Amino acid sequence: MSVPLVVASHNEGKVREFRELLAPFGFDVKSAAELNLDEPEETGNTFEANADLKALAAAKSSGLLCLADDSGLVVTALDDAPGIYSARWAGPNKDFAQAMGRVARELHQAGEEPNGAAAYFVCVLSLAYPDGRLRTIRGEIHGTLTFPPRGEKGFGYDPIFIPSGYSETFGEMDPAVKNGISHRAKAFAALTDYLNKERAA
Ligand code: IMP
Repeated sequence: MSVPLVVASHNEGKVREFRELLAPFGFDVKSAAELNLDEPEETGNTFEANADLKALAAAKSSGLLCLADDSGLVVTALDDAPGIYSARWAGPNKDFAQAMGRVARELHQAGEEPNGAAAYFVCVLSLAYPDGRLRTIRGEIHGTLTFPPRGEKGFGYDPIFIPSGYSETFGEMDPAVKNGISHRAKAFAALTDYLNKERAA
């Protein structure tokens, strides 16, 4: 019988991505929406704290194994902003043109050259067991920023981010290339490793 696993997200795109990743492990994947789980407020100060609190809240109310994530863009010269506030910088209308403009403006205000500023994307995955145990995993992709934004292929902050060793932004890149090197890909690979080891144990 397959083990139920709840993806603690109301974002259908994310649920689909997790479902595909988890397919080989034989989990019976359910979404927070299917189980009518509330979305807790993201009150943590780190990606880890937010991923953990989402996974734990879902594990507590469902009594099942739960997986949550938290991600964002970290700009070193902005004291790691927007970081855990990456989604919030885009506002209720998810206006990322404005959020990317704010990154450039704040870098100028900090006396830093926006073009070439060091930045990285972070993805933290948290797996919470019904007994309260947690496994927290982080993936990062480092690179530099470029302005004005370039490319229509990605989402969020993709058009201003050039991963190290490449010349295209994530917004210009073939999604298959991005999905092979991204922060999310790295966190997923580490989760897969962990699940394989658990299964073998
Ligand atoms: P979350 O879904 O609450 O974790 O918010 C993630 C935020 O970081 C969103 O605003 C995304 O646009 C941004 N973000 C995370 N990963 C990426 C990415 O791969 N490309 C562009 N933006 C990203």
